[in-house]
Amino acid sequence: MVKIPVAILGATGAVGQRLALILAEHPWFEPVYLGASERSEGRPYGDAARWILPDELPARLAGLRVGSVYPEGAREAGLAGGAFPRLAFSALDAAAAAPAEEAWAQAGVLVVSNASVNRMRTDVPLVIPEINPGHLSLLAQQSYPRGGGIVTNPNCSTIGLAMALKPLHDSFGIEACSVTTLQAASGAGYPGVPSLDILDNAIPFIGGEEAKLESEPAKILGSYQGDDKGGSIREAGLSISAACHRVAVRDGHLEAVALRCARVVSRDEILAAWAAFDGGLGALGLPWAPLRPLVYIEAEDRPQPRLDRERERGMAVSLGRLRPCPVLGWKFELLSHNTLRGAAGGTVLLAELCAARGIVA
Ligand SMILES: NC(=O)c1ccc[n+]([C@@H]2O[C@H](COP(=O)([O-])OP(=O)(O)OC[C@H]3O[C@@H](n4cnc5c(N)ncnc54)[C@H](OP(=O)(O)O)[C@@H]3O)[C@@H](O)[C@H]2O)c1
Repeated sequence: MVKIPVAILGATGAVGQRLALILAEHPWFEPVYLGASERSEGRPYGDAARWILPDELPARLAGLRVGSVYPEGAREAGLAGGAFPRLAFSALDAAAAAPAEEAWAQAGVLVVSNASVNRMRTDVPLVIPEINPGHLSLLAQQSYPRGGGIVTNPNCSTIGLAMALKPLHDSFGIEACSVTTLQAASGAGYPGVPSLDILDNAIPFIGGEEAKLESEPAKILGSYQGDDKGGSIREAGLSISAACHRVAVRDGHLEAVALRCARVVSRDEILAAWAAFDGGLGALGLPWAPLRPLVYIEAEDRPQPRLDRERERGMAVSLGRLRPCPVLGWKFELLSHNTLRGAAGGTVLLAELCAARGIVA
């Protein structure tokens, strides 16, 4: 199979490094261009990236010269015509992402983004492949040149929450949900929160995070109204209250969730709904699809970041401690890996879905 040439924008950051590791070995995609800020431009990737992962920087990317985050950079890099990226993974800060993602889409490239800036646009799909693949039809609303478009991955805390809620919302209808997060330091990127602020501490504020967690699930769990030529999302009618905290954990966001369903539901019904959820991707053979997207752990003190974040290569959401809530009905804990399921792995899976559907070829 001829691999699809791809660019990684923000390749030197916390998410970009995860993307580099995954894509360097990917059976469908071939990283041909790496972009980052002016600080990194012109330097070999192995020199520009301050590597923070336990796996070594991929040798075949180490010598690639980092360019700008714009398509002109790839043109100037003199990539052979056939190797010009057809897909761009964006792991840029929101401010840098806005003009860069637009430029790549205008250049006829499909952007698969981790950044928040385009997520709530009415013409931009906000997709978790196991939940709402049909929302990709929103791409028909976009007016970029042939091949161009923008699709987005949700916020790293939203992904775990939306995946846990999906089967429950489908089966019982969720009316209200309260979520309190304990979010890992790597969620702030590199270098992120200063060590003297986070060591021996928890910080009850993450700028903009609560608003994302309160708004994104309604779009993701909403339904697409329309056909292949155009349509819109009717948002799900659930209300969410979020409280977000940064804690001294390296990777893995833990979330304490309480919810009220539209009818009385038993513990067994909730566990059965989670157990039956397989994400529906099996037939597509997507390389980064987890076999079990939701894993319930019976032990009374799980899930825990250190013990459970790597489940299914970091692509599964771990659930536990389902118990009655005297206020809303039921409460439980969930854990997802913020830079894998919540970012790099999530966008790779989304790009695989786009490739499987012929949206990028
Ligand atoms: N970390 C997570 O868990 C996580 C999860 C989900 C989504 N996200 C989102 O993913 C994106 C990347 O996050 P991150 O944690 O990887 O951040 P990060 O570690 O701070 O990396 C940011 C990247 O963007 C580049 N960059 C920064 N400012 C730029 C500018 N003005 N022009 C061009 N490039 C610029 C940086 O290049 P230099 O190295 O050259 O400065 C670096 O490659 C953000 O939008 C974030 O919200 C992160």
